[in-house]
Amino acid sequence: MSRRVRTAVFPVGGLGTRFLPATKSMPKEMLPVVDKPLIQYAVEEAWEAGIEQLVFVTGRGKAAIEDHFDSSYELNVTLKERGKDELLDELNRGVPRPGQICYTRQQQPLGLGHAVWCARELVGDAPFAVLLADDLILAKKGCLAQMVDAHAKAGGNMVAVMEVPQAHTSRYGIVSPGADDGRLVAVRGLVEKPRPELSPSRLAVIGRYILEPEVFLHLGRMERGAGNEIQLTDAMAKMIGVLPFHGLRFDGRRFDCGDKVGFLEANIAFALERGDMADAVRAFLPQYR
Ligand code: G1P
Repeated sequence: MSRRVRTAVFPVGGLGTRFLPATKSMPKEMLPVVDKPLIQYAVEEAWEAGIEQLVFVTGRGKAAIEDHFDSSYELNVTLKERGKDELLDELNRGVPRPGQICYTRQQQPLGLGHAVWCARELVGDAPFAVLLADDLILAKKGCLAQMVDAHAKAGGNMVAVMEVPQAHTSRYGIVSPGADDGRLVAVRGLVEKPRPELSPSRLAVIGRYILEPEVFLHLGRMERGAGNEIQLTDAMAKMIGVLPFHGLRFDGRRFDCGDKVGFLEANIAFALERGDMADAVRAFLPQYR
């Protein structure tokens, strides 16, 4: 039996330049899909997976995220006065208990690996999850919950994976697959953002990870990789052959919300899941064909 995953790390320090001007004074993680910020979807996915401790790796200009996961005195009083108890309950349900959430800052933009390394003291010596809020996943059972179940049996490191078009390999960490039962794939190699003609496969890492704390030793060497950044992929690759390492082909649809078109598509797909909106959205969609 592998050790239970209790902590999740959310790297939220990125500048969000692709969504300027929207993200000039607002964190990109606060962009709403329908009516909920991207980061809240990721946090809810973590709760569903049994996570008990949230670690946010933030940066300058990200205070709105802290306010979002705090209870709002003004809203509590006003909504109560107006008898909007249901909305108030919903708002407060997502607020972590005191001490269940903590923040640290990535003081320099040195890459995803560096952001995760910044969380090392808060994570300690236990397996932990990493969720990238840009990757939004629509699924019956949350992607991280699927991974936690698979991890309880397989142990070691685990990443969410999906096939991407050959032309897109340079956007992702790409897996060299080993034994494959159609759902769980042994990871034999990992490379960050290979050019399509050099890519070992089309199996891409999506932003959900379960990692053993040994990854911090590798990240701590501060070796630069693709884009001259400290890459999480490179640190994970060092653990292949040392610990079990699997990719999980999760059930669900993933939307790349770091991309404008992916973000728009996510809004449509999530709106179509909503009983209060689906009909109205279906009614206007044909006009845009
Ligand atoms: C990061 C990781 C990459 C992974 C991707 C998933 O890249 O470095 O390995 O495939 O997330 O979204 P980024 O999108 O931050 O450039």
